[in-house]
Amino acid sequence: MKRQVSYSAVLPISLSAIVIFAVFAIATKAEEATSPTAAASSAPLMKFPEGTATPSEVCGGCHRAIYQEAAQGSGSDLNWAPMKSYAGSRAPLALPKGVSKSSTAHFIAGIDPWPLDAMHVEENGKQCDVCHYPEPLQYPDINAAKIDNPKPRLANQERGITCASCHLTPDGRIRGPYAVAAPHATVKDEKIQTSVACAFCHSNGERVVGKQTQTFLEWREDFNKPGLGPQQCQDCHMPKTTRKLAEGFDVPERPVARHLWTGGHSFQRIGGALTLSAIQMEEGKPQVALHVTNIGAGHSVPTGSNRRAVYLNVEVVDSREHVIVSKEWMFAPSFAARPDDRTFVEEDKNGSEPVAATQADLQGPHESIIRAGEERVLNWIPEIPAGRYSIRARLIQDLNRYNERSFKDDQHKIAQTAIELNVASPR
Ligand code: HEC
Ligand code: HEC
Ligand code: HEC
Ligand code: HEC
Ligand code: HEC
Repeated sequence: MKRQVSYSAVLPISLSAIVIFAVFAIATKAEEATSPTAAASSAPLMKFPEGTATPSEVCGGCHRAIYQEAAQGSGSDLNWAPMKSYAGSRAPLALPKGVSKSSTAHFIAGIDPWPLDAMHVEENGKQCDVCHYPEPLQYPDINAAKIDNPKPRLANQERGITCASCHLTPDGRIRGPYAVAAPHATVKDEKIQTSVACAFCHSNGERVVGKQTQTFLEWREDFNKPGLGPQQCQDCHMPKTTRKLAEGFDVPERPVARHLWTGGHSFQRIGGALTLSAIQMEEGKPQVALHVTNIGAGHSVPTGSNRRAVYLNVEVVDSREHVIVSKEWMFAPSFAARPDDRTFVEEDKNGSEPVAATQADLQGPHESIIRAGEERVLNWIPEIPAGRYSIRARLIQDLNRYNERSFKDDQHKIAQTAIELNVASPR
C-alpha cells in the first residue's frame, strides 16, 4: 500500500512541473528568434532544490526522447514480469498499474516491488537506500581499492533513481559530456562517459572474486586492465544515436546515449553474454566436456545481485527420447566474501543479515560466476550403458534463484546445444 501512495504522490508534482517547464521552454524558444542558443535566454538558471528527489518528469519536460526511453524503454526489449520473491511466497509481485512493463531498471527502482519486499523480509524494514535511492554522487577514483556506499537520501524524500541521481553534482549543477549552455547550470565532465559513472551503485567494498555487487570492479580488473576490450559500461549499455538533447530548443543534433540500460531483464542482452558447447572427449567413451564461455559481457555473468543465477542443465537422451540421466550446475554470485556454504547456516542466524545470508548458504556450494573472457569447462562422465544417445545442454538465466525452481516466469533459456554420444561396450 505504502508504495502505491508514494508513487501516485509523484504525479501531481510532475504534471505541474511539465506544465511549468513547457511554458518555460516556449518562452525560451520565442527568445531564440534573436538568440542562437537556449543559454542566451535571460531567464534565471533553474535550480533543483529537491536534489536527487527531483522527479524525472521535471527533466523529461524538455529532454523528451531521453525521458521516454528511461520511463518506457522505447527502443528496447525490456520486460518486467511479475516476480516471486521467495519459495512459498504468495502471488507474484507486479509493477504498479500504469507503469510500463518495458520500463528501465533505474526508472522503476523506487517502485520495483521485489527490492521493496526484500527490504522487509530480509532487513526488517531497514531501507537499502544507499544504491537504490542515493544523494548526489561525486565519482570515485577509477583506481580506488574500495568502493564506498553512496549516501542514502533522507527517509522522508521521494524514493527511486531519478535523472538527477546520475546528473546532479553535490554543488547543484548538471553534469554531462558536453559543455553546452542550458536553462540549468551544466558542468562538462568527461568521466560521465566512463565506467566510474556507474561504479558507486554497481560495486560495494573491495574486489572479491565471485562475490555479489562487484560489477564495476569485475569490469576494471578482469576486462579493462587486462585489455580485453576498450568498452566502458555506456558503450554496451547505452548505445548511441544522433538527435537533439532537448527537443523544443534551437540546438544542433548531437550524439546521444540511449537511456535504456538493458541488463538481466532483456532477452537480447542476456542472449549475447554466454556461449555453450558440448564435446565428447574420446570416441566411444561417455566423457563430455561442456564449455560455457563469457563472450559478451564486460564483467562476470551473472553479475550484481546474489539473487541471479545461470543454470547449465544437461540431459542424456536415448533413441526413444527418454531422459536417462541429467545433471545441473548453478553459476551465481556468492552472498558474502566467501563461497556460499551450508556449513555457515547456523552462524548466519546470529549475523547481521540472517535471512539473506541463510538463504544463500542453504544453496551452496555452487559454481562461481563466469568472469569476463573466461571459458569454464565442466567435465561430466554420465553412468550409462553402451548405446547411442544424444546429449542436450541448455543454459537458463534465473532472475531469482531463491524462489521455486518450478516458478518459470523469471527464467529464460539463453543458449542450447545437442551432440550425438556413442558409448561402446567395454572390451
Ligand atoms: C527547461 C528545459 C530543461 C529542463 C527542465 C532540463 N533541461 Fe537539461 N538541457 C536543456 C537544454 C536546452 C540543454 C542544452 C541542449 C543542447 O545544447 O544540446 C540541456 C542540456 C542538458 C545536459 C547536457 C549537459 C552537457 O553539457 O553535457 C544534461 C546532462 C541535462 N540537460 C540533464 C538534465 C537533467 C538531469 C534535468 C533535470 C534535473 C534537466 N536537464 C532539466 C533543457 C532542460
Ligand atoms: C544511483 C545509483 C546507480 C547508478 C549511478 C547506476 N545504477 Fe544501474 N542500477 C541501480 C539500481 C539500484 C538498479 C536496480 C533497480 C531495480 O531493479 O529495482 C540498477 C539497474 C541497472 C541495470 C539493469 C539490471 C536489470 O535488472 O535488468 C543495468 C544494465 C544498469 N543498472 C547499468 C548501469 C550503468 C551502465 C550505469 C552507469 C552509466 C549505472 N547503471 C549507474 C543503481 C545505479
Ligand atoms: C543511471 C544513470 C543515469 C540516469 C538515471 C540518467 N542518465 Fe542521462 N546520462 C547518463 C550517462 C552515463 C550519460 C553519458 C552517456 C554517454 O554519452 O556515454 C548521460 C547523458 C545524458 C545527456 C547528454 C546526452 C548524451 O547522451 O551524452 C542528457 C541530456 C541526459 N543524459 C539526460 C537525462 C535525463 C533527462 C534523464 C532522466 C529521464 C537521465 N539523463 C537519466 C546517465 C544517466
Ligand atoms: C562488452 C559489453 C559490456 C560492458 C563493457 C559492460 N556490460 Fe554489463 N552486461 C553486458 C551483457 C552481455 C550483460 C548480460 C549478462 C548478464 O546479465 O550478466 C550485462 C549485464 C549487466 C547487468 C545486469 C545484471 C542482471 O542480472 O540484471 C548490469 C547491472 C550491468 N551489466 C552493468 C554494467 C556496468 C556497471 C558496467 C561497467 C562497469 C558494464 N555492465 C559493462 C555487457 C557489457
Ligand atoms: C552497492 C549498491 C547496492 C546496495 C547496497 C543494495 N543494492 Fe539491490 N541492487 C543494486 C543493483 C545495481 C541492482 C541491479 C541488478 C544487479 O546488478 O544484479 C540491484 C538489484 C536488486 C534486486 C533485484 C531487482 C530486480 O527486480 O531484478 C533486489 C531484490 C535488491 N537489489 C534488493 C536489495 C536489498 C534488499 C538491499 C539491502 C539489503 C539492497 N538491494 C542493497 C545495488 C545495490
